[in-house]
Amino acid sequence: MASTPAGTPATGSIPQGQAEEFLVGTVDELPAVGGAVVELGGRRVAVVRDSSGRIHAIDDTCTHANVSLAEGEVTGDTIECWLHGSEFDLNDGYPLSLPATQPVAVHTVRLDGPSIYVTLAD
Ligand code: FES
Repeated sequence: MASTPAGTPATGSIPQGQAEEFLVGTVDELPAVGGAVVELGGRRVAVVRDSSGRIHAIDDTCTHANVSLAEGEVTGDTIECWLHGSEFDLNDGYPLSLPATQPVAVHTVRLDGPSIYVTLAD
């Protein structure tokens, strides 16, 4: 999934005011626990499988500096930034430890069998 180029829009025409949903890949393309990066609408998104097997999608760029969160270590339902160690809650995007103080955006994930769909937050 990390080498996947842009996600594929899952819907033909989008009713006005409704966000676009992207097919980003399948569950088996993710590490058993960990993340991969996809580009959706010009935005880098980390698609992450947590320790309980749940799939999350968050903005990939750490809010402390410009590094990829998908490369971080996943423990439970958190991901740790590899550069300075801030942990982010995969459910709400908020940092649980310094130095990051701002949350990352959390996107909506829908599973259809093995397929992973993501709808971007604003
Ligand atoms: S770059 Fe992520 S915590 Fe510093």
